[in-house]
This record gives sequence, structure tokens and C-alpha cells, in this order.
Amino acid sequence: MTKENSNKMWGGRFEDKPSDIMEQINASIGIDKRMWRQDIRGSIAHATMLSQQGIISKNEAVEIVNGLNKIAEEIKSGNFEFKASLEDIHMNIESRLREIIGDVAGKLHTARSRNDQVATDFRMWTRGAADELVHLIEELQGALEALAQKHKSDIMPGFTHLQAAQPITLAMHLGAYSQMLERDKGRFIDCRARLNECPLGSAALAGTPYPIDRKFTTEKLGFDRPISNTLDAVSARDFANEFLFCAAQTGLHLSRLAEEIIIWATPQFGFIQLSDAWSTGSSIMPQKKNPDAAELVRGKCGRLNGNLIQMMTIMKGLPLAYNKDLQEDKEPVFDSFDSISLCLQAMKGMLESATFHTDAMLESAEMGYTTATALADWLVMNLGLPFRDAHHVTGAIVKMAENKGCKLDELNLSDMQELNPAITDEIFAVLSVKK
Ligand code: ARG
Repeated sequence: MTKENSNKMWGGRFEDKPSDIMEQINASIGIDKRMWRQDIRGSIAHATMLSQQGIISKNEAVEIVNGLNKIAEEIKSGNFEFKASLEDIHMNIESRLREIIGDVAGKLHTARSRNDQVATDFRMWTRGAADELVHLIEELQGALEALAQKHKSDIMPGFTHLQAAQPITLAMHLGAYSQMLERDKGRFIDCRARLNECPLGSAALAGTPYPIDRKFTTEKLGFDRPISNTLDAVSARDFANEFLFCAAQTGLHLSRLAEEIIIWATPQFGFIQLSDAWSTGSSIMPQKKNPDAAELVRGKCGRLNGNLIQMMTIMKGLPLAYNKDLQEDKEPVFDSFDSISLCLQAMKGMLESATFHTDAMLESAEMGYTTATALADWLVMNLGLPFRDAHHVTGAIVKMAENKGCKLDELNLSDMQELNPAITDEIFAVLSVKK
């Protein structure tokens, strides 16, 4: 007989209750309660399948499903008490089901283990998260594309080594980020496709002797197919690693854009001004307007990368099949989802409400001798100079402009002809950035 003190779910052979610290280290309810919808959906599919297969009766299934729906209502309305003593979301729900419908609740766990249950819930959750992130990425791309449209002929310096290199358009610059995001989106879509296989029916590790119908639950839960190897089904978490990488890579792309916004927003650059809604002031320096949201997007990379390393480290060397280490899988995934969702939305908000100082961008492109490469190419194409020689002559022309404190297109033809007499006034066609 189970002692009064021991766990009602698995305490048959136990006489004592766990120590307080054991309860604390063992409990995951604070984290995994986020999967309550998936858990209830999975249980409803499982109970329905059990009755269709004659493993439990129709009436029992109806009672179980009604009870689960009632629990869903309780959780939705905030009237459900989550208990750490019941470890996780699975046992919290099952225990409440027993309170509502009595002992028949115990039949729900026939032909199932928490090991296949949690793997099923977690895959469903991650699948939904990937879908949501694809949507948020598309929203940000929409904002970038609208800005690119607006600034398709606004000139700015393109940089290498953060030194003005060649003139480009602001549209080109923003378009580069939209393409990075397109690949990020593709990665989430791939991740989702690979993870969308159903572990349910694997039970603890070795399958189950009951005549279950895995095809039914697989379809009911929106999976593409059941996972054939039951050990793999309960212990694989590469889908979590993959999701975490997708999030980290997206964050990494956003951090590059964030860094540029931060640089561009300095008075020294003056390329962009963030709206008040997306900046903060300094409590001591009244003149300041800080790009905090951009800095936080850049800073969130720390946790996004950390979560990936954390999960990969949990998995390293883990023997088959289920081990409790796996319970540590949800926190990094939830955290990366929350973080990258915020970053994508913040980036969209910042960009949409920012003012781009295209006059300052143009001026900077003109000041930086960014047409020097075009000049060298002109010398090659029109005078037949070898590129290295053209490069040398161009360098001398840039130095001349520097000495005179003028732009390249403000130089005199005769001055340039001192460096190469074959130069004609057609050269002016390539000296201004607008060309
Ligand atoms: N809370 C557990 C987890 O997240 C559920 C699975 C528990 N299984 C077990 N055999 N103790 O991994």
C-alpha cells in the first residue's frame, strides 16, 4: 500500500516523501506549465484512441475528455493551482483530473509514459513557436522592405572595415538584412519539418503491449508520421538544439543590424534618429538619447548563444533512453523563444519609427572619396591602364583632393592631367556619388 506521505502518481514502493530540496530540484512545473495546452491536447487524443481501440470504454473516454476540457477552462481562467509537489505539468493535470472525475482518471495513463508524453508535448510546443517566429520574421522583413522602397535612391557610404568604401543605396543596405532574415525563416521552416514526428506510443522506451493506434494519434496531433524507433522517440532532443540554433542565428543577424543602428545614431554619424518610443534618456546627462532597445537586441545574443550551448551540453554523452537531465530542456527553448520574439518586434518598431537622415548619409558618401574605385575603373576602361597602375594614379588623385580639402568631383581637370595627361573631362561622369 502506498503510504499516506508518498507520491500518489508513482509512490507505490515508497514509504517516505521526498526531502524539501529533492522536491525543489525535481519540480519543473514552474517552467513546463507553459505546455498545458499541448499536454491536454495530447491526452485527449490519447484517451480517444484508447477507447477506439477498446482499451478503455467509450464512457470512460468521455469522462476523461470532459474532465480535461474542464481543466483547460480552469487554467485559462487562472483558477488552477499548480503544485510543486506534483513535479510537472503532466502530473498536475492528471492529479486534478482524478479530483474531478475520480479513479477513472487513472486509466488515462494506460499505454503511455511521461517519457513519450513530454516528448510529444514539447515537440508540439516547439512547432508552434517556430510558426510564430516565421510570422514575426516576415513582419520585420515587411518593415525592411517598405523602408528599402522608400529609400531606393538615397545614397550612403557602403563600408568595409567601418571605413567609407563605395557609394551604395540605403535600400541595398537594408535589403541585405532582409535576405539574412529570409534564410533564418527557411531554417525555422526546416526545423519544424524535421521535428514534426510523433513520439506518442513509445511509452517509457520500449513501446507498449496494448493494441494502440499510433497513426490515429499522430494525425490527430498534426504530426507527419510516428517516430519509428521508440528509444529515439523518447530521448531525442536534437530538435531543441536545432530550434535554439535557429534562434541564436536570427539573433546574431539582428545584433549586426542593432550595432549599425547604435553607430548610426551617434551624433558623430548622425545617419539615423530613433523615436522617443524606442530610446531612453540618461538620468545624469540631459543631452543624451540612448538606443537601449538596439543595445538590448545586441545583448540578447548572449543568452541566445548560451541557451544553445546549455542544451547541447545537457545532451552530450547522455545514454539512451530517457534521463531526468532531459527535464532541463524546456527552459532554454522557452527563453530563446521569448527573447528572439522580443528582438524581432523591437527591431521592427525601432526601424518603422526611426528617421533616416539621408542628407547626412549622402554627405558622408561624398566626403569619404567613395568614388575612388569607380575612378580607377574609368582609367582602366578608358585609358587602358593596368588596374594596379590605375589604382596608383587614383591614390595620388585622392591625396591631391585631401590636400586641397575638396571632393573628387571638385578637382580641376588640369590638376588631374598632371598625374596622367590622357585623362579627359569625361572622368567627371564617375566622380560624383550620384553617378
Ligand atoms: N517532467 C519530466 C520532463 O520534463 C517528464 C518526464 C518524466 N519522466 C520520468 N521518467 N521521470 O522530462
